[in-house]
Amino acid sequence: MTRRSKFQSPTGMHDILPRDQQYYDKIYSVIEEIADFYGFSKIDTPIIEEAELFERGVGLSTDIVQKQMFSFKTKGGDYLTLRPEGTAPVARAFIQYGMQNRPQPVKFWYFGPFFRHEKPQAGRYRQFYQFGFETLGEQSSVVDAQIILIFFNILKNLKFKDLIIGINSIGDSSCRPYYKKVLAGYFRSRESALCADCRKRLKQNPLRILDCKEEKCQPAISMAPQILDHLCDECHQHFKEVLEFLDELELPYQLNPYLVRGLDYYTKTVFEIFENTEKGKSQGALVGGGRYDNLIKVLRGNETPACGAAAGIERMISIMRQRPMGFRRRSGPDVFLAQLGPLAKRKSLKLLEEFREEKIQVGELLGKDSLKAQLNRANKMGVKYTLIFGQKEALEEKIIIRDMATGKQKIMPVKKIVKKLKKMLR
Ligand code: HAM
Repeated sequence: MTRRSKFQSPTGMHDILPRDQQYYDKIYSVIEEIADFYGFSKIDTPIIEEAELFERGVGLSTDIVQKQMFSFKTKGGDYLTLRPEGTAPVARAFIQYGMQNRPQPVKFWYFGPFFRHEKPQAGRYRQFYQFGFETLGEQSSVVDAQIILIFFNILKNLKFKDLIIGINSIGDSSCRPYYKKVLAGYFRSRESALCADCRKRLKQNPLRILDCKEEKCQPAISMAPQILDHLCDECHQHFKEVLEFLDELELPYQLNPYLVRGLDYYTKTVFEIFENTEKGKSQGALVGGGRYDNLIKVLRGNETPACGAAAGIERMISIMRQRPMGFRRRSGPDVFLAQLGPLAKRKSLKLLEEFREEKIQVGELLGKDSLKAQLNRANKMGVKYTLIFGQKEALEEKIIIRDMATGKQKIMPVKKIVKKLKKMLR
């Protein structure tokens, strides 16, 4: 008989073990505080949505839709997808609940797991956590700058350093079609210098070629016409204003004329934030975002300008791990309850409840019968007092209290022990 190998978590998906929870908690608390200040409300959307939401929203020509979605048919015949990103679901909720009738803009943030069927590698997982901020119903360039500022502040609060904002404008429906034609013409004349995927992209959406990471395509990309030379007046003005706000805020940005981002819903501003360190550069952008003025209309809502971004939490944590975070160690219990014999064990469970009600943390090893093992554990926990509840004590309704520093012991009625310890620990 062949032995089955051990079960493992699915490829590219990881457990978040107790020792890693502190990173998630820390990031969450920084986001929550900043979201509160800037007036963003938290939203949770389902982990599963209709596949068509992403096909229409994120775009059929994107890698996400073409290669990376976990999609399935339900028994009832619905075609659903594990959400690969959070913007289309937020836009769906905005439309579903008629939020265009609320005072605009409507501002949301979210935090949760997302799913993309990627080839697992550093910084790329099949299940990963993102947090995002979305401002819907405002077209002003100040919103673009504020979204960038929010992400910059969150990263700075978490001790990220050497942050760089890569930024570009990819125009809108009045200027981008012409640029796409220019771009298609350029790449058509260099088709043999493109990878197989890019030759397909040339037919579907030449902008996607600019996002290709294949070595082969880089020379052609680096000489490609730049969209900044083809922006219409409105997009040009909008982008100029965003950059002026960033200058005013003294945020470090670099114009990247080939930044297009991998999702189709963007218009005007697109940006990414990196840490300019070895590790930071090796795993890709921490934050990606931009303006998406057409998405809500594409999803059959009213025309609603919007802007937002999201950050990958595992990528953040892999950098945070390299530096001391000054996490406060959880304080352990000050008291340990050691028990001996069936009667004492029976009464111990109830006694622990009395301590819990008084908010006194008590360590225990109720499953063990050996006093030595229990005292060893009490020593390891570094408690101040150990309570010893033996068979005799349990019969007499008494308990021994041992001061771990001095080794002195006293015996006293069980009834009084909780109050007594409360006083001693004060
Ligand atoms: P995105 O660039 O696809 O944008 O993802 C945002 C961030 O999520 C990335 O910068 C990266 O840190 C992280 N990320 C993405 N894929 C993975 C992966 N496979 N493994 C680990 N981390 C990953 C969006 O998702 C847009 N919805 C952002 C946005 C919000 N735009 C406007 N509003």
